[in-house]
Amino acid sequence: MCSLCSLQFSSLPLTLFKPKGHRMRRLVLLCALLCTTIHVAFSIRDGLMRNGNFELGPKPSDLKGTQVIGRFSIPEWEITGFVEYIKSGQKQGDMLLVVPEGAYAVRLGNEASIKQRFMVIKGMYYSITFSAARTCAQEERLNISVSPDWGVLPMQTMYSSNGWDSYAWAFQAEFPEVVIVIHNPGVEEDPACGPLIDSIAIRALFPPRPTNKNILKNGGFEEGPYVFPNTSWGVLIPPNIEDDHSPLPGWMVESLKAVKYIDSDHFSVPQGRRAVELVAGKESAIAQVARTIPGRTYALTFAVGDASNTCAGSMIVEAFAGKNTLKVPYESKGKGGFKRAELRFVADSTRTRFTFYSTFYHMRSDDFSSLCGPVLDDVKLLSIRKP
Ligand SMILES: *[C@@H]1O[C@H](CO)[C@@H](O)[C@H](O)[C@H]1NC(C)=O
Ligand SMILES: *[C@@H]1O[C@H](CO)[C@@H](O)[C@H](O)[C@H]1NC(C)=O
Repeated sequence: MCSLCSLQFSSLPLTLFKPKGHRMRRLVLLCALLCTTIHVAFSIRDGLMRNGNFELGPKPSDLKGTQVIGRFSIPEWEITGFVEYIKSGQKQGDMLLVVPEGAYAVRLGNEASIKQRFMVIKGMYYSITFSAARTCAQEERLNISVSPDWGVLPMQTMYSSNGWDSYAWAFQAEFPEVVIVIHNPGVEEDPACGPLIDSIAIRALFPPRPTNKNILKNGGFEEGPYVFPNTSWGVLIPPNIEDDHSPLPGWMVESLKAVKYIDSDHFSVPQGRRAVELVAGKESAIAQVARTIPGRTYALTFAVGDASNTCAGSMIVEAFAGKNTLKVPYESKGKGGFKRAELRFVADSTRTRFTFYSTFYHMRSDDFSSLCGPVLDDVKLLSIRKP
């Protein structure tokens, strides 16, 4: 119902968003009410999936060393292929395996998968967040799917120095009951070489729509994937994300590398509770297309700062509004802070593309290996009427 409301409104011309008559206002109100009710009823479900951090493990008789024997040996999950049950602190060669949430994780070897069936509301959008770590494979990828949607997430780039990153992926529920499958399509020489997986969570998404305060959707990034309360490395929004299936509603990631979704519990955020960190230079771009009226003047405003994560240096965020561009320099001491910028332009099309990226690459100065960058937040687009 909620997505139906936003669907209905997003297909209306922008000028209609200001409710003119009583009926329109009532309809908007009704939708808002319904959305809130559903949101409240469903926020209970936001969080870890059943045994989502794999703390419940197989019986000792279902383990051969670390290898799990039997399809249904891990409570709540069904497995296929070479799946290992890993205890935190376990050693592999000279590599110490550390688990972010609790004490256990699973490892998916070549062609291995884990799956779980769960109930959703048909038509609604959901975002999955999971934590994964590369181990020994050369080219690790994971295929995450909720039929008929699927996405292959590259794990080639390690963003956090401790090896663990959290990834988000979104889908629209086509059935009231769906199955999530995480599959390692790898074909490594060592069949046990594959990513570790821990902490799989879900969150219902409520795609925001433009308002008379902001023509852009979700400009403050407040709506987005589930963030684990106990992890301090944010959530990666992977590359090649289209906006209709984005874990960050309204936005797409067009570049080769991910952008990082950060929360105010663990980072400094210019406004509200969420923002994005542009972690991979020009390879980490975020974009949105909005309706504009040719000939009209617009103001694009946004905040540029740093996440207070020891990411120091001279930063530049480049903003594009169609063919117009603005470079915003920011001197980061890595201790938090931000400045605001404005790009005024005259639209030359009925649709204008807005893109943001960082000019440079940056590394955290505490470990010299975690990718980091400037923070973007509070992105607003308003039409400026000439007197
Ligand atoms: C990913 O998994 C889905 C569902 O199992 C499958 O249909 C799809 O072909 C897979 N994609 C790739 C590239 O392996
Ligand atoms: C998060 O950490 C706290 C304190 O260390 C712990 O009590 C809690 O169980 C953890 N939550 C999860 C979901 O692991």
